[in-house]
Amino acid sequence: MLLKDKVVIITGASKGLGVSMAEVCAAEGAKVVLAARSIEQLKEVENRITTKGGVAYSVQCDVSKLDDLQMLVDKTVAKFGAIHGLVNNAGVNYVKAFLDTTENDWERVIGVDLKGSFFLTQLCAREMVKQTPKGGSIVQIASVHTYASLPGAAPYDAAKHGMVGFSKAVAVELAKEKVRVNVLSPGLCRTEIWNDIVAAAPSEKECIAFWNANIPAERLIEPEEIANATVFLLSDLSTSLTGSNIIADLGMTSQLISKEPYGSKVIDGDR
Ligand SMILES: NC(=O)c1ccc[n+]([C@@H]2O[C@H](COP(=O)([O-])OP(=O)(O)OC[C@H]3O[C@@H](n4cnc5c(N)ncnc54)[C@H](O)[C@@H]3O)[C@@H](O)[C@H]2O)c1
Repeated sequence: MLLKDKVVIITGASKGLGVSMAEVCAAEGAKVVLAARSIEQLKEVENRITTKGGVAYSVQCDVSKLDDLQMLVDKTVAKFGAIHGLVNNAGVNYVKAFLDTTENDWERVIGVDLKGSFFLTQLCAREMVKQTPKGGSIVQIASVHTYASLPGAAPYDAAKHGMVGFSKAVAVELAKEKVRVNVLSPGLCRTEIWNDIVAAAPSEKECIAFWNANIPAERLIEPEEIANATVFLLSDLSTSLTGSNIIADLGMTSQLISKEPYGSKVIDGDR
């Protein structure tokens, strides 16, 4: 078991990638603390984990509120006595033209995706440096948007780039304290976001064909694949990694353009 008895907080554990992370971490022996705004949804995840013999504890928490973050950390320490891992996974997506973006839009996206992860990193790191033995692993869930962008994503991209920036600073500052901080940047995953994308397309078939042209592996990432990469970063298998931004996108950002359409398989430039 890669995370035996490690106490790991996972935000946004009520839906999507966070649920899978919670289930896989618990299966690897972690005591998982599930955080999100809906306690009902968290309890469902908690019940599924405990039914399989895992250890899970739900805390209702809005990550954009500093009092909630402090309460999440206090409850975790009171319940389990230490914090060994944190996954800042809670996030809101955003698609709206830059020219129409308002201060409210900015504050909502930055509040959850950047401010929440920044201050929860700080609160957990304070525990990690003072507990015995000291140290821990913090994983920020950013996005392929930290490598390249799409129209309508300015606040989201600002937040996700910000996660990379502050994580490098904290990684450098706390390396000697044995606190590691890494970013995991997923490509397109099969969560509710995929349903939203399909709903906006003329047809599901057309939508799949488009994305297959833009993803070399020609498929979506399953939530469990991101959960497995998260376990690696939380575990002692990754002790040489801190300050990294690992891209998990099935090749999407390595591909220069969508698939070449004219069939020019061999071009002989020696004329
Ligand atoms: N799904 C993808 O294709 C994809 C790709 C790249 C990055 N990501 C990132 O992965 C993370 C998870 O994405 P997902 O697809 O599972 O999203 P999702 O919408 O399915 O789940 C998001 C989770 O965050 C929680 N959350 C949102 N606002 C919150 C708040 N204020 N306080 C506490 N919890 C809050 C939600 O309740 C939910 O549990 C996000 O940070 C997202 O930006 C997702």
